[in-house]
Amino acid sequence: MAIRPVLKMGDPRLWEKSLPVVAFDTPELAALLADMRDTMQAMNGAGLAAPQIGVGLQVVIFGVENNPRYPDAEEVPQTVLINPRLQPIGEEMEEGWEGCLSIPGMRGVVPRFKSLRYQGFDASGGPIDRTVSGFHARVVQHEVDHLLGVLYPLRIRDPRRFGFIEALFPEASQPDEPSGG
Ligand code: NI
Repeated sequence: MAIRPVLKMGDPRLWEKSLPVVAFDTPELAALLADMRDTMQAMNGAGLAAPQIGVGLQVVIFGVENNPRYPDAEEVPQTVLINPRLQPIGEEMEEGWEGCLSIPGMRGVVPRFKSLRYQGFDASGGPIDRTVSGFHARVVQHEVDHLLGVLYPLRIRDPRRFGFIEALFPEASQPDEPSGG
């Protein structure tokens, strides 16, 4: 399997809507998922959507392991989510910093639903049905947006809280923490 180049904002393929997966448990899907995992790990991302490597299918992966260097980071289970559907729970929104592997070196504050239910399928076509909140919910919304052709800057309300990491956080060292998806 292989680390694939990640498309960057400006590439028109990132603005397209992805198509549903119709066949599970195929060698093609397994190969796509292996490439996505390799690419996400190599770039230390929290998630990755298939269109980010130029594949217009409704496939996302995400997950954040518990990292002793960042004890406050919320853990998110490693997940393959295919043909997802999101259903917000309540109307409460929460703002939080996001990054994206397709927009390297930048961060922005993005409003997201605080709680939601997501449904979809795993790599074998088994059903996934979870109710989550907080960081987990944020990661899912970010990744599923990629399948709709939406990148996080489109959701930013205050452009003053969007910019280059070194300008936004001049005091911070540059940790290799999970940095978007
Ligand atoms: Ni992203």
